[in-house]
Amino acid sequence: MLIKKRVSHEIAENSVTPENIYLNRRSILKSFGIVTASGLAMPSQAGFLDNLLGGSASEVPQAPRKPLEYRPDKPTDLSLTPEPKVINHNNFYEFGTSKTDPAENSQHLKTEPWTLTIEGEVENPGVVDVWELMQQSNLEERIYRMRCVEAWSMVIPWLGLELNTLLKKFKPTSRAKYVAFETLYDPKQMPGQRSRHFGGGIAYPYVEGLRIDEAMHPLTILAVGLYGKTLPTQNGAPVRLVVPWKYGFKGIKSIVKIRLTEKQPPTSWNLLAPHEYGFYANVNPEVDHPRWSQASERFIGEGGPFSSTRQKTLMFNGYAEQVASLYSGMDLKKYY
Ligand code: MTE
Repeated sequence: MLIKKRVSHEIAENSVTPENIYLNRRSILKSFGIVTASGLAMPSQAGFLDNLLGGSASEVPQAPRKPLEYRPDKPTDLSLTPEPKVINHNNFYEFGTSKTDPAENSQHLKTEPWTLTIEGEVENPGVVDVWELMQQSNLEERIYRMRCVEAWSMVIPWLGLELNTLLKKFKPTSRAKYVAFETLYDPKQMPGQRSRHFGGGIAYPYVEGLRIDEAMHPLTILAVGLYGKTLPTQNGAPVRLVVPWKYGFKGIKSIVKIRLTEKQPPTSWNLLAPHEYGFYANVNPEVDHPRWSQASERFIGEGGPFSSTRQKTLMFNGYAEQVASLYSGMDLKKYY
């Protein structure tokens, strides 16, 4: 008898939380008694609630997103994080450090045309047109658990392609031991790059890196969309990295360059605070952040302001079966 082994991202076939869970922000504002006669929340209260709800009470017009064709993932018994929360509770310091800043400040980012340069230890360096890549790739949906280093989590239906399929086209050489990624550097478009304070003290451009075996792992994707459409600017349009067993900061956004290297590349958060953020950043409930525990997390799911649930954090964010072998013999307290 042939027993089908479930692959990494395939989760048990149970119920799927519907996409269109509607976050009725105005009625929540009303229930707090802070909608004024004009029907608008006071700005400071709205800001407070934005953070609470993971949404933008100020209803900033969002740049249009295009529908994408893709192969759906298996249904999952995980509850998806509702789309309004995925796209209004972000970290993208190029657009400010509060969770609602990216949705508010990134909408004018010009994402088309967009090219991605692949260089370094490859036989055929080159430039990819990202919008062509989207059309030419057989995009897949990947419903992934995502764990932020700040101890909150989401479940997101990404659309993308395995990074290894792209890298292989450029023929990595035997000296390619690491992969370095770089975000667009354009202070005219990205206010956080113009101000040390607004941009959280990061030395831009934002950079990230993976070991080559991590980059080639089938769970590692280049995401170009979520919830059926191209990425919102605040989530890293038009192309970003998603590595579900690592803390969210590895998921570098709006990538313009991928460089294969022999030496371990620098990474933005490690440069900023090396004792707090390591190169590996694997989700690990046994290794606390110096300032807080990583043993549990607040899951941002459906419902109103106080409905997020506390749950235990899983080793490698629940992907241990697929990735633990990449780190066998390594001291994960040292290589955090
Ligand atoms: N990429 C860039 N270029 N700039 C950033 O500030 N923040 C990181 C990561 N990628 C960041 C980035 C952090 S800290 C997290 S938690 C994730 O993006 C958040 O992704 P999301 O907003 O799509 O949930």
